[in-house]
Amino acid sequence: MKIAILTSGGDAPGMNACIRAAARYAIFNDMEVWGVERGYVGLIEDKMRKLDRRSVSDILQRGGTILKTARSDEFLTKEGRKKATENIKKRGIEGLIVIGGNGTFAGASQLSDEYGINTIAIPGTIDNDLYYTDFTLGFDTAVNTVLNAINNLRDTMTSHDRICIVEVMGRNCGDIALYSGIAGGAEAIIVPEIKPDIDGLCESLAAGYERGKTSDIVIVAEGAMSAAKLQKIISERVGLPVRSTVLGYIQRGGSPTLVDRVLGAKFAVHAVDLILSGKTNRAVGIKDNKIIDENITEAIEMKGVFDKHLYEIANTLSL
Ligand code: F6P
Repeated sequence: MKIAILTSGGDAPGMNACIRAAARYAIFNDMEVWGVERGYVGLIEDKMRKLDRRSVSDILQRGGTILKTARSDEFLTKEGRKKATENIKKRGIEGLIVIGGNGTFAGASQLSDEYGINTIAIPGTIDNDLYYTDFTLGFDTAVNTVLNAINNLRDTMTSHDRICIVEVMGRNCGDIALYSGIAGGAEAIIVPEIKPDIDGLCESLAAGYERGKTSDIVIVAEGAMSAAKLQKIISERVGLPVRSTVLGYIQRGGSPTLVDRVLGAKFAVHAVDLILSGKTNRAVGIKDNKIIDENITEAIEMKGVFDKHLYEIANTLSL
């Protein structure tokens, strides 16, 4: 049996660990494995290379994706997906594993529904914004990267008696902000899921200074507000020294953590097992520490439930 693997959308640490595990587990099960270059672009342009055990050596510890990634506009069209399907069929590929976020999942579901391609999707995005799964691949590493940045910022901000606004990624999801904020002891966390109380924030920063506090870290998710805007508001209203830092793409790179390496291996093995058992249009995930799978279309449609309890804990601890 021939299968293909691709990574699409924003890269996420752990994608390489996942590619390695999928390739090696599939080869162990007598499959032929093809790596598609640059996500759906490679399917349309028929750019694939055969993967053997050696070709996925020395990648486990590396961030990014050896298969490269892209966001394909052509694949959004029916014509583009038709071209991709022709190439898949021409090569006799019977199963496709895609690793990525929302957009990648939508493409996989369309390939399965429109053209009957057997597709399995693995959640790989730092954003943690696929709600059928507790965690996506790359989230843990990204949060740890943010945490290291907070530690560094705390050193310099404390030395200068400054407030620091730290803008983190996550698109419309506040999980990177929430988890890094609680782990880094941030004085405030602003997320898109909860309307920010800017007046309350300014008052509490001012009150903290009255009590003798001289430095604060405020984490703001990119989907809620920009760090620059918040910096302006705070410095105008509170009159305290404020600096801002946008962590940006630094959050997407770096060697995957233990959590993401193990998660990548578990997701990959489950995906290959699904193909072996003839399943299609399934999204692999983790729920209550168990590897699960869901229909891809339903997985994309699941609405996010923000962890308000954790958010409240973070607020209580920062008082
Ligand atoms: O989805 C991952 C992510 O890094 C988001 O957090 C961010 O908003 C977006 O991708 C950036 O996209 P691009 O790589 O296209 O600039």
